[in-house]
Amino acid sequence: MAHFTKPAAGSWTQNYPELGTEPVDYTDSIDPAFYEDERQAIFRRTWLNVGRVNRLPKVGSYFTKELACVGTSLIIVKDREKQIRAFHNICRHRGNKLVWDDYPGEETSGTCRQFTCKYHAWRYGLDGELTFVQQEGEFFDLDKSRFGLKAVRCEVWEGFIFVNLDPEARPLVEYLGPLAKGLEGYPFDQMSEVFSYRAEVGSNWKLFIDAFAEFYHAPILHQKQAVKDEADKLAGFGYEALHYEIAAPHSMISSWGGMAPPKDPSMVKPIERELRSGLFGPWDRPDIDGLEPLPVGINPARHKAWGVDEFEFFPNMSLLFWAPGWFLTYHYWPTAVDKHIFEASLYFVPAKNARDRLAQELAGVTFKEYALQDANTLEATQTMIATREVTDFPLNDQEILLRHLHKTAQRIVEEYRNGRAH
Ligand code: FES
Ligand SMILES: [Fe+2]
Repeated sequence: MAHFTKPAAGSWTQNYPELGTEPVDYTDSIDPAFYEDERQAIFRRTWLNVGRVNRLPKVGSYFTKELACVGTSLIIVKDREKQIRAFHNICRHRGNKLVWDDYPGEETSGTCRQFTCKYHAWRYGLDGELTFVQQEGEFFDLDKSRFGLKAVRCEVWEGFIFVNLDPEARPLVEYLGPLAKGLEGYPFDQMSEVFSYRAEVGSNWKLFIDAFAEFYHAPILHQKQAVKDEADKLAGFGYEALHYEIAAPHSMISSWGGMAPPKDPSMVKPIERELRSGLFGPWDRPDIDGLEPLPVGINPARHKAWGVDEFEFFPNMSLLFWAPGWFLTYHYWPTAVDKHIFEASLYFVPAKNARDRLAQELAGVTFKEYALQDANTLEATQTMIATREVTDFPLNDQEILLRHLHKTAQRIVEEYRNGRAH
């Protein structure tokens, strides 16, 4: 299983000379000043995925998104023309948060015909227009057309809703670039059964991406997930990816992972055999079009042993495609230099019977267990790099995407600082 071909440059990392091979400085994950600049230079200026169109099934469907990283709350809504729009969640009268339920800091969702402020009942249409002012005659020359909700750039790619706080930002598709282009046509819309969970994690947002963007740790950290013989074998092999690709600022890793179904059923736990499912997802592929052949961007090496591709759309979205026919997203929303909200969503073709459903549930809980094992190391890492006793860390060739992530964040913040200095 080990020893896949490396590029002619000698290694994946040397294939991208701008990455260098020297140890990487992790001050970017502990320095509060760096975090503040990252919020301005990265999160306020890039396209951020806030979910999929599934969350807005009909006219008037909406959800709110609390974005501490850009210092605002947004309303995402489907208007009467079925266009998806985003607005700052702020009433134009005196600034009350417009949409929330019991606690103003908690996200909410629902369906409505219009938004009504809880304070003095100003009302806004789904397109953000101010439509009603309580005791309008008491105001002075109030031109309602000037007091609509403040809009935020919002564009949709393959059913993924993105927002951008920068009115000057280039179009989404251009930003997502060739890696996203290669995924177009994947049957995303047919995978409408969603299992989600979220957690607050005590680490910098980049550290959790680090943990997902390399599988070097998998045979070690996750060894308890396999039966003992198999775990020993995997640790002995070590880990090598099939392929890496960088199209800055985004990147991807293509990996083997042939456990769905496993060649030898004794490799996996009894419950996995019983439910025909596990970490790699349900073993039985859904019967839908669009998976055969896969879009060109998935399994780019067209390797027979292919199991999963993970795309890192900068800054904070991971999109994973699994060989058995389902996909997964991770999002990492910073709330402080050493804290973030982690969100994971698994997307399946809706179950046709109880067996399918149980297979999906098992994949979901297996994932949660894995992610907890990862999250567990993150807080331990965060507290120790925060000591600054060691600041530079050697990253190996299978950690190329981490090198790329940190270098990208550092470059963007540096350019922002230089721009501010002039
Ligand atoms: S603050 Fe919203 S109506 Fe007054
Ligand atoms: Fe992991």
